[in-house]
Amino acid sequence: DRSIKIAPSILSADFANFGQEIQAIEAQGCDWVHVDVMDGHFVPNLTFGPPLCAAIRPHIKTVMDVHLMISPVDQYIEAYAEAGADYITAHLEAGNHTHRTMQAIRASGAKAGLAINPGTGVDDVEYLLDMVDLICVMTVNPGFGGQKFIHSQIEKVAKLRAMIGDRPIHIEIDGGVTPETAPLVAAAGADVLVAGSAVFKGGSVQNPAPYGENIRAI
Ligand code: DX5
Ligand code: ZN
Repeated sequence: DRSIKIAPSILSADFANFGQEIQAIEAQGCDWVHVDVMDGHFVPNLTFGPPLCAAIRPHIKTVMDVHLMISPVDQYIEAYAEAGADYITAHLEAGNHTHRTMQAIRASGAKAGLAINPGTGVDDVEYLLDMVDLICVMTVNPGFGGQKFIHSQIEKVAKLRAMIGDRPIHIEIDGGVTPETAPLVAAAGADVLVAGSAVFKGGSVQNPAPYGENIRAI
């Protein structure tokens, strides 16, 4: 379904070849590029920060979608905006002042994304709806690629879509997206699907055709 955007997570790319990997996934037809930032504190894993985002920015023709799995968040927003993030997504669970964080992201010039963990309900999202451009529903516990999709989150997606009404807000799904799980969340109202292992499996910069096959299969 081409109204659904596919956002490959470069967490599953070859870290020694980010520039070529991005060119390969874009040539193979991805819609956005998803960048997973982890701090070893909010999540039990560590990836990369603003300098890497800035370095890969010139290789990205489409949207740079930066997912911050970090706490605290606010003092780093400007750096990710300057690095060229189109969307900056922060977690509801990352601090006590999410409303302020969303304001700060929009003030930076980026679009504001709000991510919620599998254990978080939709009620706390209600008063943030006019502050956000994207809601990221985590369908795994954040921190690692290649985990199993948590099916209880499908109902959450449907609740959020109803709550959003006619506001122009994307619902993004992150974690365990495969050709089997993608139709379930799309039917519930998601329109941006992040996929790491399901996009990069079987391919490489030398042999990028599987990336395209994988993207089309989702
Ligand atoms: C999880 C990350 C995801 C993840 C997706 O903490 O936010 O973006 O890498 O990877 P897959 O698609 O392999 O579950
Ligand atoms: Zn992510």
